[in-house]
Amino acid sequence: MLKNTLLLLLIGIAANCLAQNQIIINADQGAYTINKHIYGHFAEHLGRCIYDGFYVGEGNTKIPNTNGVRNDIVDALKKLKIPNLRWPGGCFADTYHWKDGIGPKDQRPTIVNTWWGGVTEDNSFGTHEFLNMCELLGTEPYLSGNVGSGTVQELSDWVQYVDFKGVSPMSDLRAKNGRTDPWKVRFWGIGNEAWGCGGHMRPEYYADEYRKYATFMNASWGNERIFRIASGASSGDYNWTEVLMKNIPRNLLEGVALHHYSVIDWGNKSSATDFTTQQYFTTMQRAIQMEELVNRHSTIMDKYDPDKRVALVVDEWGGWYDVEPGTNPGFLFQQNTMRDAMIAGVTLNIFNNHADRVRMANLAQTVNVLQAVVLTEGEKMILTPTYHVMEMYNVHQDATLLPLDLKTGDFEIDGQKLPALSASASRDAAGKMHISLVNIATGAPQEVIIDIRGANASKAACRILTSAKIQDHNTFDHPDKIKPVKYEDFVLSGDKLKVKVPPISVLVFEIQ
Ligand code: AHR
Repeated sequence: MLKNTLLLLLIGIAANCLAQNQIIINADQGAYTINKHIYGHFAEHLGRCIYDGFYVGEGNTKIPNTNGVRNDIVDALKKLKIPNLRWPGGCFADTYHWKDGIGPKDQRPTIVNTWWGGVTEDNSFGTHEFLNMCELLGTEPYLSGNVGSGTVQELSDWVQYVDFKGVSPMSDLRAKNGRTDPWKVRFWGIGNEAWGCGGHMRPEYYADEYRKYATFMNASWGNERIFRIASGASSGDYNWTEVLMKNIPRNLLEGVALHHYSVIDWGNKSSATDFTTQQYFTTMQRAIQMEELVNRHSTIMDKYDPDKRVALVVDEWGGWYDVEPGTNPGFLFQQNTMRDAMIAGVTLNIFNNHADRVRMANLAQTVNVLQAVVLTEGEKMILTPTYHVMEMYNVHQDATLLPLDLKTGDFEIDGQKLPALSASASRDAAGKMHISLVNIATGAPQEVIIDIRGANASKAACRILTSAKIQDHNTFDHPDKIKPVKYEDFVLSGDKLKVKVPPISVLVFEIQ
């Protein structure tokens, strides 16, 4: 009797140890598709994102390009399979008058980019340049309309210009400027940060403005409908979402946005590369807050839209630090370290796991601005750790989300705790299963047991992105310091996958 009790006790202790890090995946279930559009990107007329980033101009440059757009960037982004690209802002969008950016370039007016560095914008990169670039990238454009300083007529004309096939003054103008067929732009933002740089509006006022703008945006073509996205809340402003959901009729609304940046403190953001473990911890706290934000904004949306017809569109997210020393403070140019890889891995897992409501998102921003996937310096281009996470995770695009239960140990410093592990899993159209696993903890590796139920798994392969220090990053001299490699420190036995997860790492498994 005593022997049996002892045995049970020992089994219990062993189970508890194992349970420290345990994932159960129900591989034969899954009700939602992970919309590929949550892997979207964002390109604003800000600093060196467009000019001296994507666009080097058709003139005097040694940098290989197609109609002025860098070929190396196009190739890199094609490998990411970027599903959509948001443009022209951001705050810039509410200062942008699209008619300034069409027609012969030498006749386009210049404006001052008042939000970003006060530089002169010559409008040489406009609607045609952007939409043709999207065709080159094989990505869907997401246009941000000007509500703050624009007019209903202006936005309605833009829709007609890019989307209308029949005879109209706007289609004639488009044809005169060299494009006969419309581009068929589906995604439209109606203003940006209307609570701030978009006009400092109250949500009640913005909701009324939205209704007016949305009413005049008609662009049905074939069976496709326009997808209108309301300017959403900043992080935890739940009242904003509540007022919008309450006051905007469902037939005028396809998406509600949300912006959330992982910033330590707006008054003291810290260096992008030279930061302490405590600062890293705080950044991760901000990133993981996305889980709570998505849950609480979704709960409000559920109240008004129980059928989940309206998407939550997180169209700005990412890490935000001090600019690199010696660069224009208005250009938001920052390096990108393993900390950013952790933000990306954790955030994308959150989006995947909320596939029922989060159906679109945009990392801020693509090139040379904030948490960029690509950095350029003259002819050189590097891929950041964030790029590699986006590339590793693209296997989840349009795959079926598999429900997962995660028990994790903590990442603990000075008595403060965060969950060390985060994970998501999906099954693609070919029947392959993918598990993405992130360990944000520094220190010792984490042993994890993954219980894959209902899959009959027989083969597993894994890639890892990791580096010795959280501050590690790629540079123009060492562009490949951080890149994904094959990882083999795991055992698949029956339906159990036992894996040793190194500190600060992102792993993606392919299971068959
Ligand atoms: O992404 C940079 C800026 O951050 C955007 O222009 C604005 O929408 C946000 O405040």
